[in-house]
Amino acid sequence: MNEHYSNNEEAYIEKLSTNLGKLKLKTPWIMASGTFGYGYELKEVTDYRFIGAITTKTITRKTKAGNLPPRLFQINKGLLNTIGLANAGMEDFKDGIFPLLKDIEPRLILSIGGESVDEYLEVIENLEGLKKVSAIELNVSCPNIDISGKNLCQSPDRLSSLVKLARGITSKPIIVKITPNEINTAGISNLCISAGADILNISNTFTGTFLTFPDLKFVLSRPLGGYSGKPVFPISLAKVWQTRQELNSPIIASGGVEDLKSAISFLAVGANAVSIGTGIFKDYGLPKKLSLGLLTYLKKRDITIDKLIGIASIEDNRGE
Ligand SMILES: Cc1cc2nc3c(=O)[nH]c(=O)nc-3n(C[C@H](O)[C@H](O)[C@H](O)COP(=O)(O)O)c2cc1C
Repeated sequence: MNEHYSNNEEAYIEKLSTNLGKLKLKTPWIMASGTFGYGYELKEVTDYRFIGAITTKTITRKTKAGNLPPRLFQINKGLLNTIGLANAGMEDFKDGIFPLLKDIEPRLILSIGGESVDEYLEVIENLEGLKKVSAIELNVSCPNIDISGKNLCQSPDRLSSLVKLARGITSKPIIVKITPNEINTAGISNLCISAGADILNISNTFTGTFLTFPDLKFVLSRPLGGYSGKPVFPISLAKVWQTRQELNSPIIASGGVEDLKSAISFLAVGANAVSIGTGIFKDYGLPKKLSLGLLTYLKKRDITIDKLIGIASIEDNRGE
């Protein structure tokens, strides 16, 4: 496959294209917000031809230093973080960072955050004119801004009004990044779609914490962090499956993809695209490996990617 691929690149890679509603991606892999810099930094180490879209670090109105260190801790093969949305802020992003992103090949998704509905709207308005941006992702689910771990996803009325007001400002597709920390993922997703969102990202990091032993101090500078990586995969998979049972809208699956099996499983339960976050820290070659692996898999099973999406069925398990 590798050899054949290099002889006929475009024809092969076309077989991996997928749609998130009107948003067409060359491959199903979307680099997750906060794990791929702003999007231009990893050009030398990751093959961008195999990436469908890159999500920027979440951008807020003002420059944010984030939380104090220690902000990252590896535990049980996963990652606990309390970065606290450290970012350049919208003006510096627009003037200093965006020009570096203009020519990247993958689509660009702009992640936006804020401490109030007004702040989100101001950032959207300010950055709406950036042509290279293909979609806007509302990060309403960061667990490490408020000290209690709360976020907009836990206030349905505010969430709904944010999405409605954002819809009035931007004509780009709106992605809402849902929290995994509420049981009713499908209910929150439905609310966002009814308010005018186009795509769901299921989901952000899980609230987690950890203590040192034997002195029993929190390992991060704040008690609560967001947990990500391989250990969260089965829970994220269940959330995507449950949501797909209730909703036809496009879904980006996010949580724990570090290998081909997990990526394909997300597609099989109905995700239209798959996010890569913590996995890229371990392997910069992941988008290429997943692309070549998926091509081989589709060929062996003699199915298209469209057929693969949502192929997992309850009937198979009942043996009927
Ligand atoms: C260090 C780190 C920083 C993150 N920063 C953001 C962020 O700024 N905005 C956001 O929406 N998600 C952020 N996330 C969450 C990821 O985008 C992703 O949704 C989550 O890590 C689950 O996917 P994974 O298990 O593949 O990493 C961050 C995750 C990590 C590990």
